[in-house]
Amino acid sequence: MTDEALDRLVAAARAALPNAYAPYSGFHVGAAVLGASGAIHAGCNVENASYPVSLCAERGAIAAAVAAGERALSAVAVVTAQGDPCPPCGMCRQALSEFGPDLDVVLVAADGRIVRTRLSTLLPDAFGPGFLDGGSR
Ligand code: THU
Repeated sequence: MTDEALDRLVAAARAALPNAYAPYSGFHVGAAVLGASGAIHAGCNVENASYPVSLCAERGAIAAAVAAGERALSAVAVVTAQGDPCPPCGMCRQALSEFGPDLDVVLVAADGRIVRTRLSTLLPDAFGPGFLDGGSR
């Protein structure tokens, strides 16, 4: 990812953060994904009074990307309003893997600290579509 794309990606995740709807946890998250088209798609967490219905910011961003026609993602940024840089939860790791098994992952804390990693590090030996055909990945 270029520095320019990285800046745009983090800016989009930061822009989504204030829209997070998190009245139950109070934990606000913004996310953005970089699509193969070069476009960036953002999401935020959307909680629900029926707690398990809540949606993480990353899966909101994935849904926006797919709705816009993306089928491959190359990077994701996750921005949180408090604490340390926050990695995607297990469910979001699996959801991201569908569209970018070796995504560039950028985690940004409220104070600006950045941690960079890859999805293949966060989710090694991932289950992928290939297994459905009797193969691997
Ligand atoms: N959350 C995210 O949106 N992304 C993450 O990577 C971790 C957790 C949300 C889900 C829930 O709304 C709140 O943070 C607390 O778990």
